Amino acid sequence: MNYVIKAIGREGNLSGKVPLWFMRQAGRYLPEYRAIRSKYNNFLDFCYSEKDASEVTIQPLVRYDIDAAIIFSDILVIPDMLGFEVNFSEGYGPSINLKNSNYSDIFNDNKLYNLKKSIEITKNTLKDFSNKDFIGFVGAPLTLLYYILEEDKTKREETLKKEIEHRSNFLNELLFLMEEKCAEFLIHQYESGVNILKIFDSHAGLLRNKQDLEKFSVKPIHNIIKKVREKIPQAAIIIFPRGVGEHIDMYEEITKLGNVALALSEEQDVARVKTIFDCCLQGNISNNIFFQDKDELKREVKKLTNIINPQKHIVNLGHGILPQTDPDMVKLLIDEVRNYESRI
Ligand code: CP3
Repeated sequence: MNYVIKAIGREGNLSGKVPLWFMRQAGRYLPEYRAIRSKYNNFLDFCYSEKDASEVTIQPLVRYDIDAAIIFSDILVIPDMLGFEVNFSEGYGPSINLKNSNYSDIFNDNKLYNLKKSIEITKNTLKDFSNKDFIGFVGAPLTLLYYILEEDKTKREETLKKEIEHRSNFLNELLFLMEEKCAEFLIHQYESGVNILKIFDSHAGLLRNKQDLEKFSVKPIHNIIKKVREKIPQAAIIIFPRGVGEHIDMYEEITKLGNVALALSEEQDVARVKTIFDCCLQGNISNNIFFQDKDELKREVKKLTNIINPQKHIVNLGHGILPQTDPDMVKLLIDEVRNYESRI
């Protein structure tokens, strides 16, 4: 069976295997990714490329013994498909020019078609692999607003906090629009062939005040899940409120909906979180282990595998694989997890 989705479900994963995948598992650390990436000047064209996007989605599964594919795309395809002016420039990363944006509440048909097609192609290719789950995703509204509200990356945090403090009608409208569109896009992805949906709230950690976090992160994620489940009641979902520290407890109500896994970023103490949440947990090995010696990596894997509940845990990092990572170190981590399994 598919181990990741089993671990998320009520009964847990009783197979004796520990599901494992990586955020940004398709990316610049892989030479085979860079070879295809070099065909595109524009990163978004690559995301909408159907066949190439599907091919890089599969690459890490060809190379490694991992349990899930995550569709190659980006969280900013939602604003891009709505008509916001999204740019990815080499060395600067993503930016959105709100002033020049002529956006609507309807996705661009062609772009949506391409992303759905890329999932369909990948789903078809996955038939040649056994027991792989397939993850679709969105960025949560707060994380999308972080990019939408400010083009200049050095001012994004400040602008987001200022807008949140003022709670303008404009901000509320954008928040609602993103909530609607995230739910809609997750449903499209599910209908095209993914079987797990992940919501990345990568910038949730910027909000240290509980009321703000409730209104701009917890509530919108909760609403998205409710909307998705009106259409797909059985949808398995992973939420990732990155960097929220002790406020992680505020997400408990969402996990109580059932069939929801909580992904943990590096600062979380798995042993503590495990005592509060009954749900499946994901994470949270530090990226640093790829840049240390091999014994240190082995020690870290052992440390994690000693505290997890093997039936309700998905091994992953605390954030995405970095471009400068050595692919052989990734393999070593996987081997260590598989080694642990043989002792369960
Ligand atoms: O393998 C996977 O995990 C699936 C694909 C994926 C990408 N981005 C591909 C990508 C996923 C799930 C994302 C999510 C994403 N994108 C997030 C949330 C997760 C996180 O990292 O916190 C965020 C905040 C973004 C926005 C974004 N896109 C950033 C900050 C960057 C990095 C810019 C840079 O140049 O380093 C991107 C670009 C991006 N998205 C790359 C990849 C593989 C690298 C671009 C390239 O190949 O040139």
